[in-house]
Amino acid sequence: MTTPTIELKPSAHPLSDSEREAILANPGFGRHFTDHMVTIKWTEGRGWHDGQLVPYAPIPLDPATHVLHYAQEIFEGLKAYRRPDGSVATFRPEKNAERFQRSARRLAMPELPVETFLEACDALVGQDKAWVPAHGGEESLYLRPFMIATEVGLGVKPANEYLFLVIASPAGAYFPGGVKPVSIWVSEDRVRAVPGGMGDAKTGGNYAASLLAQAEAAAAGCDQVCYLDAVEHTWVEELGGMNLYFVYGDRIVTPALTGSILEGVTRDSLLSVARDLGYEAVEERVSLEQWQRDTENGTLTEVFACGTAAVITPVGTVKRAGGEWRQSGGEPGEVTLRLRRALLDIQRGTAEDKHGWMHPLG
Ligand code: COI
Repeated sequence: MTTPTIELKPSAHPLSDSEREAILANPGFGRHFTDHMVTIKWTEGRGWHDGQLVPYAPIPLDPATHVLHYAQEIFEGLKAYRRPDGSVATFRPEKNAERFQRSARRLAMPELPVETFLEACDALVGQDKAWVPAHGGEESLYLRPFMIATEVGLGVKPANEYLFLVIASPAGAYFPGGVKPVSIWVSEDRVRAVPGGMGDAKTGGNYAASLLAQAEAAAAGCDQVCYLDAVEHTWVEELGGMNLYFVYGDRIVTPALTGSILEGVTRDSLLSVARDLGYEAVEERVSLEQWQRDTENGTLTEVFACGTAAVITPVGTVKRAGGEWRQSGGEPGEVTLRLRRALLDIQRGTAEDKHGWMHPLG
């Protein structure tokens, strides 16, 4: 199967410089989209074809399109950063490309070659380079590659046609207020994913499954929900859109992957960044009881959440049915801020990229 080359068909009417600059001054998260998108088709027998960069626009879908009924969909999230010399680079895009392939396998979808994934992201960032914020903070251009089943028909089976797209959205802080700690509601009855399910795939269905518990967290006065494992309702898994880290002084722990936890790129990167800074960084099981007990006895000094969108966000208050506690006095912890800074410095090009994580554009 040959790898498609993206044909460039840019917009004759991109947003004006002043309109774009007004958006970049306060982009928020996921509210504005750049002038272009990339689309690539897949059909049975023909494989990947018709790669195009076209003006950002709605995609017409027949009401009987598979994805609208059976949710055969996967996505990714990665960021492009502006560096001090004005150039642009994406962060570990090949990790996202590989995870996209794993997600595709789990949902019986065709695997997009890693090099095609990278080519599509590069084509979009290259065309819409002016949309990569240049503020020197955590601002970036968030890329959202995704794939949907486009066969028309209501039979339940893997579709025989798919559409891969990449769109891009300038991004400031995911949580308004910057590094303000978030509050967490631990759901002890609802689960996000089960063993043998698709919790380790990045598919919209997992996010749909998380919305009710998220609404319950909001009703309990919390920003985010934390899920426990589906069998024992004991072991901490993740927040749905973010992984968790527990700081025990110089020892940093993230829940070990179980098949129902999404393997975050930020989670993986922090294991290395933490070791580079001299911390012991490990993956192991963490129970909810341990979380509460170790906070109360003072050995668990900080907790933070991490993800592409949220970068690193401190956890402040934690609530569960019949209990509540605070991490590091409800303030961002010192280790949390140090790791956040170290990671962001690599991403925005102000620290040495010793792991070769940055993918410069052309
Ligand atoms: C990301 O961090 O990229 C996520 O997937 C979280 C959310 C915005 C879906």
